[in-house]
Amino acid sequence: MTGPPLALGVLVSGRGSNLAAILDQIKAGRLAAQVRVVISDQPNAPALRLAADQAIPALAIQRRSFANQESFEARVAAELEQRGVELVVLAGFMRLIGPTLIDRFPGRIINVHPALLPSFPGLAAQQQALAHGVKISGCTVHFVNEVMDGGRIIAQTAVPLLEGDTVESLSARILAEEHQLLPLVIGRLAEQIRAEQVSEDGSSQG
Ligand code: GAR
Repeated sequence: MTGPPLALGVLVSGRGSNLAAILDQIKAGRLAAQVRVVISDQPNAPALRLAADQAIPALAIQRRSFANQESFEARVAAELEQRGVELVVLAGFMRLIGPTLIDRFPGRIINVHPALLPSFPGLAAQQQALAHGVKISGCTVHFVNEVMDGGRIIAQTAVPLLEGDTVESLSARILAEEHQLLPLVIGRLAEQIRAEQVSEDGSSQG
C-alpha cells in the first residue's frame, strides 16, 4: 500500500474479540492500519481494557451523559476527528447511529454483523437464524447508513448450520469467520482509500 497505515477508530460495546482480531493482524504486519482510538458506549466493556493494555486511547462515552442522540454522536465524531481517523469500524457496537455521525464520515463507517444480511438484522441474529431453521447463515461487513444493518454490503462469509447447533455453537463458528472477514475488508478499503488519494492528488500521501 502506498502511504501511511490507515487510521482507524473502533467503536465497541462489549467483549472486543473483533477488535483483538484487527490488532492481531496489524501486529502480524498483515494489515496496514493503526487503531487511533477505541470508543465504547459501555464503560465496563472488556474491549476498553483490551485497548488500554495495548496503549491505545480507550474512551467510554455514554449516551445517557448527553441530552440527545445528536450531542452524543457529535462528541464521538469529535473524538474520532481529533485523532485523524479515516475509517470508523463498528465492531460489536450495539447502538444505532444517526446522521450526526454518519454525515461526518461519509462512506467511511463499516459494521460487522453475525448473519447474512439482509436476513436477520438487529439483535440476536444467530438466534433468529436458528429459529427460522435456515441451513446457511454467516457474517456480513457492510457500510453503515441510518437503517439498522441496512447499508450496502461489502463482503460476506457463509457458515452452514449443523445438526444440534445451539446459539453458542453457531455464534462461535460465525465469530471465527468475522475475525477473518473484518480485517480483510479493512485492508481492502485501506488500499482503495490510498489509491483514490494518489489519483486525486497525482502523488502519494506518504
Ligand atoms: C459480534 O458477533 C458482532 O458481529 C456482533 O456482536 C459481536 C461482538 O463481539 N454485532 C452485532 O450483532 C451488531 N448488530 P466482539 O465484541 O467479541 O467483537
